[in-house]
Amino acid sequence: MFKKLLNSLPHWSEYCHPLPALSTENRAVDILRLDQLDEKISGNKPLKLIGWFQHFQSQAKPNLLSFGGVYSNHLHALAQAAYEFAIPTIFIVRGWPEQPLTPTLLDCQALGANLVFADRKTYAQRYDKNWLDKLSEQYDALVIPEGGAGEFGEQGCQTLAPFVGDYDEVWLAAGTGTTALGLAKGLSSLKAKTKLFAVNAVADQGELARYWAERMPSNVTWELIDNAHLGGFAKCPPELIELIERYQHMGLPLDPVYTAKLLWAYEQKALTQRARVLLIHTGGLQGQRGLKQAF
Ligand SMILES: Cc1ncc(COP(=O)(O)O)c(C=O)c1O
Repeated sequence: MFKKLLNSLPHWSEYCHPLPALSTENRAVDILRLDQLDEKISGNKPLKLIGWFQHFQSQAKPNLLSFGGVYSNHLHALAQAAYEFAIPTIFIVRGWPEQPLTPTLLDCQALGANLVFADRKTYAQRYDKNWLDKLSEQYDALVIPEGGAGEFGEQGCQTLAPFVGDYDEVWLAAGTGTTALGLAKGLSSLKAKTKLFAVNAVADQGELARYWAERMPSNVTWELIDNAHLGGFAKCPPELIELIERYQHMGLPLDPVYTAKLLWAYEQKALTQRARVLLIHTGGLQGQRGLKQAF
């Protein structure tokens, strides 16, 4: 599926559905189900990998190296994408080799990923250029940052803009902020009037807000919602479980880390002004397999 995506983008309207539970007289709410793109690789992850794979094809390193936790949606998608192109991968995983592999890592391994475990202190160097250069040399690999972040990660996300630009508001969850920033850049070049609401899944003391303040295009209106992480990254209090179950009954599966917090924030905000609204379901349901065990 990823190979196909590199050649031609899906018709986004096929993945877009009305969300009557959140629609009101003034607000028609749709949801773009990127989680439905494909069984093996879905959500925002394949979009973020488009630019990285194009870059990979234009450089000389034969391998790909990246980073993630034991439930990482990014590593899961990268394993599948690299498998389709027969590219060897090295995954630096935050964790210990003695721990049983999560369903995420079992899938990665089955797709040929070489898992290298790193303790917390070692993993913390993942933004350190010297360490990244060393890893790149040691494994003869192009290094993709955690979460597929960076300008190459933004490129594929820009392609959503022509579809999203028809709405008054777009809402999505943010981790590294790459998907939303890419989308904003796409909206900016189309001069679309869509307002972007991003729900920060990370309790980052304003770090993403400061990063975006310098990089968000000036002709895009945006708001970063920093108070809907419900205790921090991957924290899932009872009220979030209740929300997940409520939407599950309506046939809308949500992951507790990103998309449930998006719906939570939308409900809490309770906006009333007239608007056509698009929520983006960025996937992440594969990671839930492991997290469910952890609750
Ligand atoms: C399911 C899901 N939704 C949203 C995000 C946030 O995307 P970004 O890191 O581009 O902000 C991620 C990854 O980080 C994710 O896995």
